[in-house]
Amino acid sequence: MNRGSVIYLGLVVTFVAAWIGLVLAPARQLGDLPGAVDPVTGQTHPRRYTALELEGRAVYRAEGCIYCHSQQIRGGRFNADIERGWGPRRSHPIDYLRDNPVFLGTSRTGPDLINIGARQPSDSWHHLHLYDPRIVSPGSIMPPFGYLYELRPIGDQPSPDALTLRGGHAPPEGMEVVPTRRARALVAYLLSLDRTYDIPGFDGGR
Ligand code: HEC
Repeated sequence: MNRGSVIYLGLVVTFVAAWIGLVLAPARQLGDLPGAVDPVTGQTHPRRYTALELEGRAVYRAEGCIYCHSQQIRGGRFNADIERGWGPRRSHPIDYLRDNPVFLGTSRTGPDLINIGARQPSDSWHHLHLYDPRIVSPGSIMPPFGYLYELRPIGDQPSPDALTLRGGHAPPEGMEVVPTRRARALVAYLLSLDRTYDIPGFDGGR
């Protein structure tokens, strides 16, 4: 064999081995995972996202929330994610069945969000927090996403989803601040983030 074919063969073996290790083996191991079925209600977790929640995922992605927030609870003796109250158990591959792409994240400037819908189920809290995090979380360093909200004149009646803004945040007389469709979709997505169900046969990694 001349040197050229040895190099060629080496390259082929390297790429095939990488493909087997990184694509084939994980796909066989995890590719057809069933959801977690609740033995009492028979409901399968995680449920499918609604159309609005999927729109909200796209906003989450576009606004770069992943730069500061992870979506994975780590377990093990040397990890404090569960003690911090971010979730009752470690994350499991099943938790990401409906996610494409998956927003695992690595940076944690802010808290983990995989269970934020369970931890903070109030949509008005989320709207105030996104509009300006310091309203509900004094001293927060999260950037405000005020441009996801619209300042507009009050019509015949104040709109039911107008934000309750007081003090320095209050809009001028006769005006109100309402969520745009992108803000409503994003909050619907955040509220759907609840992976606190049990997974049969999984000890939660504690
Ligand atoms: C520059 C970093 C940064 C970015 C970008 C960012 N956040 Fe945050 N976020 C934080 C920090 C820090 C906190 C903790 C303080 C607070 O509650 O505001 C936080 C808190 C939160 C909380 C409350 C978590 C809890 O456990 O109470 C939610 C919900 C949240 N962020 C959602 C988002 C969403 C949605 C986006 C994208 C639109 C986003 N964040 C973008 C830094 C960030």
